[in-house]
Amino acid sequence: MNGVVRKPRLTEVVAMKALLDQASATGSVLPRELPELYENVRDFYVYVDAEGIGGLVALHIDMVDLAEVRSLVVRERLRGQGVGEKLLEAVLSEARGLDIARVYAFTRVPVFFEKNGFRVVDKEQLPYKVFKDCSRCGLFPGCDEIAMVRDLSAESGTE
Ligand SMILES: CC(C)(COP(=O)(O)OP(=O)(O)OC[C@H]1O[C@@H](n2cnc3c(N)ncnc32)[C@H](O)[C@@H]1OP(=O)(O)O)[C@@H](O)C(=O)NCCC(=O)NCCS
Repeated sequence: MNGVVRKPRLTEVVAMKALLDQASATGSVLPRELPELYENVRDFYVYVDAEGIGGLVALHIDMVDLAEVRSLVVRERLRGQGVGEKLLEAVLSEARGLDIARVYAFTRVPVFFEKNGFRVVDKEQLPYKVFKDCSRCGLFPGCDEIAMVRDLSAESGTE
């Protein structure tokens, strides 16, 4: 792993979409269209190495005490080398700086999030997400994604 994690440049959004498209084709993340990516580009961090955009993640704020970690993808060849963890650290650090109490993810890879301090919760504990996104999704209410939360407010002063 010889790349860096940083905020994206606008000229990198097309490459970010390409990585998201690969992952969304397998159903592991939601697809995002270019206009949505440009509008929300400040939510994102990217991992960049000599080959270009090798990973990305977004922190999307829902309300005063809640934000979603989403669109987390690492280039297939780079997986298992700690890039996902590095990207997650970047959004968690931003969330702490904003005093966000809880961050959550809806995922099919609970092991990755468990290793990073998240715990499984009932989807009903995240009614805003269910109202905002899930209720409009074709898979609702039978989706197999697992809701996971990390309570940052409980950690303040301990790290
Ligand atoms: C999930 C993903 C982002 C992880 O990225 P990564 O760079 O491979 O993750 P890391 O190398 O930082 O892994 C951190 C830990 O999680 C574990 N882990 C990572 N991906 C895992 C997976 N798919 N299943 C089980 N464990 C996994 C690793 O074993 C590692 O633990 P270890 O240090 O004890 O070995 C990557 O696999 C990916 O892009 N998957 C497709 C998209 C996706 O599912 N995104 C999540 C949407 S919520």
